[in-house]
Amino acid sequence: MSTLADTWGIHDQQFWLRGHVPEDPVEYKEEQGTWHVYGYQEAVHVLSDTAVFSSHTNRKVPDTEEGTEGNLLQLDPPEHRKLRNLVSHAFTPKVVANLEPRIAELTHELLDAAAGRDHLELVNDLAYPLPVIVIAELLGVPSSDRELFKNWVDGMFENTQEFSLKENSADQESARKATLEETENFKRYLGEHAADRRRNPREDLLGKLVEAEVDGERLTDTQIVNFAMVLLIAGHITTTMLLGNTIVCLDNHPEQMARVRADRALVPSAIEESLRYFTPFTALARITDSEVSLAGHTIPEDEMLLIWIGAANRDPRQFTDPGTYDIGRDPNPHMAFGRGIHFCVGAPLARLEGRVALNILLDRYPTLHTDPQKPAEFLPSPYMAGVRSLPMFT
Ligand code: HEM
Repeated sequence: MSTLADTWGIHDQQFWLRGHVPEDPVEYKEEQGTWHVYGYQEAVHVLSDTAVFSSHTNRKVPDTEEGTEGNLLQLDPPEHRKLRNLVSHAFTPKVVANLEPRIAELTHELLDAAAGRDHLELVNDLAYPLPVIVIAELLGVPSSDRELFKNWVDGMFENTQEFSLKENSADQESARKATLEETENFKRYLGEHAADRRRNPREDLLGKLVEAEVDGERLTDTQIVNFAMVLLIAGHITTTMLLGNTIVCLDNHPEQMARVRADRALVPSAIEESLRYFTPFTALARITDSEVSLAGHTIPEDEMLLIWIGAANRDPRQFTDPGTYDIGRDPNPHMAFGRGIHFCVGAPLARLEGRVALNILLDRYPTLHTDPQKPAEFLPSPYMAGVRSLPMFT
């Protein structure tokens, strides 16, 4: 049976969006040389046990090792904790709550710029620029450079190929080279801003990273650049999808749209349910530091695992009617922000941006709906599930 996911041209690997449940929660894929975890409990196990499952995956991926230093996502304990402490205070719910007026102001400004049209392209008009401007302002890089970031980051997520440790095709090789090139441009840009901050101290996040000390030592330039790069990338592309996907979900479930319009107290749980139902960041990677048994499989040391949190969020052993989009779902212990020590540091910010923007959209457009003539387009990567463009009538 053809599903919405097929109509939308979503990557085949995202089987949970087509209602499929894997027979085995853990699988080895010979052709890719990697293990795949689909079950909820199994995913929780892997993400919680940092002694066995390491986040330092760059060590197995050619040409990526220099992106490791200072990159929170790649660090294991005890280094991870030291670096995470440097940013966690910048994203506490209390600090983030102070950003609410600025997020509301930006949302209105962006929508004002589209006023007078009978349609919005939700991604270009709001869902892309809003989180990029917010994270750029926090870091202290000019938000007017956002077209540059877009060029650099887009390249990273346009790759339709699945990751493989086996021999790569010519297509995979050229996509990999293009991504590396974009990464270098991005690093050069952030390096110049960090150098400027050393000369002209400021109170933004980049300024704080330049001043910060770990074990009595300042961070190196490489650490600062990699750290800032993770924040800038993680801080925008996923939130763009959070906003876009929430609107897609509500638009496809008119009864849920009516429910949230009638009771705005449901906005936060509508966002949580969209994160579960249409998880933006579909897979996380880990490597085994020792042999381990998981769901009856023996996984040797030094093997790579992909933990499909998108699939885990649809595991029927964990969620009743996982294929039903229910904005009142409670509890909703989804894993869209990960689990354990690497739990998304930006989750309070992403949730706030989602809540503010969704409320303003519902206020300003009482009949917002998609344009049947111009369907939404979705990112082609197996590791991202989200809208790339979303034309809407206002
Ligand atoms: C980590 C998802 C928004 C910054 C993560 C992880 C996930 C995730 C799944 C865990 C990675 C792992 O375990 O390997 C998301 C989603 C978002 C979002 C779905 C939006 C809906 C943000 C924002 C920021 C951010 C707005 C920054 C302002 C980070 C950072 C980490 C992280 C720095 C690494 C934390 C660590 O390794 O300790 N995110 N994220 N994210 N996220 Fe987010």
